[in-house]
Amino acid sequence: MDFDKLEEHWENVHSKKKENEVSWYQILPHKSIEIIKSLNLNLDSNIIDIGAGESRLVDNLLNMGFKNIDVLDISKSAIDKAKKRLGHKSSRVNWIVCDVNHFVPTKKYDLWHDRAAFHFLKQLDQINNYISLTSHSISENGNMILATFSSDGPQKCSGLEVVRYSKDSIKNEFEEHFKLINHQISNHTTPFNTNQEFIFASFVKK
Ligand SMILES: C[S@@+](CC[C@H](N)C(=O)[O-])C[C@H]1O[C@@H](n2cnc3c(N)ncnc32)[C@H](O)[C@@H]1O
Repeated sequence: MDFDKLEEHWENVHSKKKENEVSWYQILPHKSIEIIKSLNLNLDSNIIDIGAGESRLVDNLLNMGFKNIDVLDISKSAIDKAKKRLGHKSSRVNWIVCDVNHFVPTKKYDLWHDRAAFHFLKQLDQINNYISLTSHSISENGNMILATFSSDGPQKCSGLEVVRYSKDSIKNEFEEHFKLINHQISNHTTPFNTNQEFIFASFVKK
């Protein structure tokens, strides 16, 4: 899908649907929070949530006391809705409306989080670009949490085909620059009461 179509798809989703009318909705992104807490990060750490959409992870990161949070999404509507939800607290976040395929970071991140965005990258050049992007923009010993549909997860998300990953396939993709330190299978119950199997892979930058 080319950029205009991709942007249009996600603008449509976020402008037409309520937060809890999309399959990936979580009132509390518990698995992400559990993993982030286990990392014992400094509160000054540079954090980015890639393809964050309207995720409440940012609310939780602010409540945990993190001070340097970037939130990136291709959809301006998603970012606007997240900002609105946070009210005055939104000024404490750096909001980025951008396609991750064209993202040029201006800093190094200590934590890179991506739940259900990377798995939309299907073309080899996009996947390679994402690997190169993470390898250049995550600090040495920095952490990366990637959550994708697992090998037993759905083949589509938001009507778009995804790449499903196993422990080995996600490890192999990133192993030149990252060490896989943990992986967990996590079942997500959608607002429509169906199950989606995710894999949460935690990496450290070599
Ligand atoms: C399945 S949703 C997941 C949202 C959020 N991470 C969560 O866990 O609730 C995928 C999100 O990625 C965004 N997205 C999809 N492709 C993207 C791209 N190429 N660049 C940036 N964001 C993208 C969409 O707008 C959407 O908000």
